[in-house]
Amino acid sequence: DYQPTPEDRFSFGLWTVGWRGHNTFGEAVRPALDPVEAVGKLSELGAYGITFHDDDLIPPGSGDTERDAVIKRFTKALGESGLAVPMVTTNLFSHPVFRDGGFTSNSRDVRRYALRKVMRNIDLAAELGARTYVCWGGMDGAEFEAGKNDAAALDRLREAFDILCDYVRSQGYGLRFAIEPKPNEPRGDVLLPTIGHALAFINELEHPEMVGLNPEVGHEQMAGLSFTHGVAQALWHGKLFHIDLNGQRGIKYDQDLRFGAGDLRDAFFLVNLLESHGYDGPRHFDFKTPRTEDMSGVWEAARNCMRNYLILKAKAEAFRADPEVREAMEAARVFELERPTLEPGESVADLRAETIDLDEVGRRGYHFERLDQIALEYLMGVR
Ligand code: GCO
Ligand code: MN
Ligand code: MN
Ligand code: MN
Repeated sequence: DYQPTPEDRFSFGLWTVGWRGHNTFGEAVRPALDPVEAVGKLSELGAYGITFHDDDLIPPGSGDTERDAVIKRFTKALGESGLAVPMVTTNLFSHPVFRDGGFTSNSRDVRRYALRKVMRNIDLAAELGARTYVCWGGMDGAEFEAGKNDAAALDRLREAFDILCDYVRSQGYGLRFAIEPKPNEPRGDVLLPTIGHALAFINELEHPEMVGLNPEVGHEQMAGLSFTHGVAQALWHGKLFHIDLNGQRGIKYDQDLRFGAGDLRDAFFLVNLLESHGYDGPRHFDFKTPRTEDMSGVWEAARNCMRNYLILKAKAEAFRADPEVREAMEAARVFELERPTLEPGESVADLRAETIDLDEVGRRGYHFERLDQIALEYLMGVR
């Protein structure tokens, strides 16, 4: 009955269920959520893990004793609930000093502070057993072309990752970094706006093997891109280190709807991909419950993120196991693409000696319509 268990590896950000609903036009509508309550409630719902930004857990401005007390109380709650902390991240966006970014602020003192803030929280992440450290540089970007030297910003971003990778190695931590792309918001244009930009950037690092991606459903869709195709490419590069699951309806502001809301087709094919291509990381939800809802709506949304994933997983399994689907895929030549264009032992001379009947092959239809309709019927519940 789609009841999640920790084996499903569902995790949630503290800032998701804890989001109080403030936005550009309206103030907070929900009370602050105690992280210990979040731990209890999420484990009760069947989650496996909880994640956080430093500032979600430790109120900014806390002194060392206060910080230690907060961590101790949180760790105790984790122990009692059995919830893991698979991923940790840093808030490099809320404080006014980050108004021009963290790692790529024009202000050098801010960049140095950003690195200190991240390193301090990396120590905590390692202590809590996290395996992934997410870097979302949403404030690293620009509204004005003349005010930002893009090449210098990329140099500084590379420098930041090189420093952080060295730090993790020197401490012997078992952590890898995951970059989270986003096209815009809060900046007019964010640095590394898509999966593709981030993948290319990683190749320029000193330790590219330590850095991968944390793509978010809504962020690629905000750019009008297919999330499923983007994730498929990240997997192909061996770079899907983590994932942020949520919902988005088209090219507009970042909606962060619960998973399944928004583009249900893309959600179906995404789950199908994750479940059939060996992604073994956490299924992490990064959603924000609309501010129309009170706390009961927040927990309803959290429960349904997991429920929708499990429903889509069952549907995708049935889809893949259906002989009619197999046959429709054959007809669509889906498996023929797996065959190398030149077989081993063949040469370009063989290829050049070959002829093709352009009229006949030009008349060939691909029968994707039928295959897609079967998928849609699974999704609509009539199969
Ligand atoms: C967004 C982002 C953020 C990041 C988070 C991790 O919705 O703009 O997803 O929520 O995931 O801040 O650092
Ligand atoms: Mn996210
Ligand atoms: Mn988002
Ligand atoms: Mn988010």
